[in-house]
Amino acid sequence: MNEVVNDWFQVGKTSELISELEKSDGVKELFIQDKKIVLTYYEGQFGALNNKCNHMGGPLSKGKLKKGCIECPWHYWRFNHQTGDSVSSEASKHYAPNAGAVPKYSLKIDNETLFINLVESKRVPATYSMSGNLSREPKRLDGKIRVLGLSTTAMDSEHPRFSTSEELLKSALIQGEKQLEIETKFIALSNLKFRHCEGFYSKSEKACTWPCSITKLDPTDEMKIIYENLVHWADVVLISTPIRWGNASSLYYKMAERLNSVQNQITLKNKILIQNKVVGLIITGGQDNIQSVAGQMLTFFGELGFTFPTFPFVAHSLGWASEKMEQNMDHVQKSEHLHQESFELLGRSVELCQKLIKVEKALSI
Ligand code: FES
Repeated sequence: MNEVVNDWFQVGKTSELISELEKSDGVKELFIQDKKIVLTYYEGQFGALNNKCNHMGGPLSKGKLKKGCIECPWHYWRFNHQTGDSVSSEASKHYAPNAGAVPKYSLKIDNETLFINLVESKRVPATYSMSGNLSREPKRLDGKIRVLGLSTTAMDSEHPRFSTSEELLKSALIQGEKQLEIETKFIALSNLKFRHCEGFYSKSEKACTWPCSITKLDPTDEMKIIYENLVHWADVVLISTPIRWGNASSLYYKMAERLNSVQNQITLKNKILIQNKVVGLIITGGQDNIQSVAGQMLTFFGELGFTFPTFPFVAHSLGWASEKMEQNMDHVQKSEHLHQESFELLGRSVELCQKLIKVEKALSI
C-alpha cells in the first residue's frame, strides 16, 4: 500500500529504489491506483512515465533504457525517460516523423523518500506518414481480372537459371494474356530484398501490425511489393514453387511468415484483407511429396482468405527413382501437357474469380 500525503504517493526509500533499479538496468514497473507506470533511473535522476507506448500501447516497463531514453520493446520507439518526449530514432522516423510524447509524472524526494504525483501530463499523439499507403481499405477497382504470377524459386538473380515451376507459371501467364480477358504481372521473389519475419507476434499479438511492423521500420524492405499486389492489386494469384526436401521453397516460407501480418488482422480485428481472391498452385520437383506441399500451401492461403478453383494445383515430379535434373528440365520444357494444364488452372482460377466478383456486385446492389 502506497502512503498518500497531499496527492503525493510514497514510492519508497530512494537508496532501496536505486539499488533495485541498478539491478534491473534502470527500469521498474510501478502499479499505483490502477495506473501502470514505468519508473527509471539514469545518471542520478529518476523518471516516471505512463507505461503505455504512444504507438500501439507497448509496455514501456518491459523496454530498455538507452542514453536516457526508454525504448519500447515492441517496435523500438524511444522516449526521454523524464519528459516523455519522443526522440527520433531509426525505428520511428520513417513511419512517425514526430512520435509525440508519453504522459509523465512529477516526482519529488523528501527525507530520502521518493514520492510521485499521479496527475499526468497530456499524451501527445504521434503524427504518421507512410509512403505507399498500404493501410488503405482494400477495394477492387473495375477492369479486367488482374493476375499476379508469383515465382518462389530461390536463385541468384544476377545469374538466373532455368526453373521448371517458373517456366510453367510464365507460360500460363503468356497464354492467359493471349486467350483470356486478363491483365498479368509477374514477380520473382528472388528479385526482392526483404527481411525475415522477426517474430513481432511472439512478443504480443498486438505487436504484429498491418502494415507489417518491418515495413514501417524499414523503407528499403521490399516485402511491401508483395503486400501491395496481394492485398490491393491482384484478383488471382498463381504461385509456383519447387519441392525442396519435401517442402515448398525456403523463399516461399520466408514470404509466408511475413504474411502473418495479413492473417493477424482477422484474429485481432476481424478485419479480412483478402476477399474474393483466388489462388492456384504450380508445384514441380525432382522428388515427390506433392500432396504434402500442396496441402500445406492450400491451408495457408485458405487461412489468409483466398478461395480455390476446382483442382487447385498442377504438379509434376520425377519421384525418388530419378535425380537426373537435366532430363527433368527437358521433360518440363517439352511437355505440352504440363503447359496446357498450367494454363487451364489459370483459366479455372479466372473463371471462379469472375463469378465471385459477380456475386459480390449483386449482393451490394
Ligand atoms: S514502438 Fe511501442 S508499441 Fe510500437
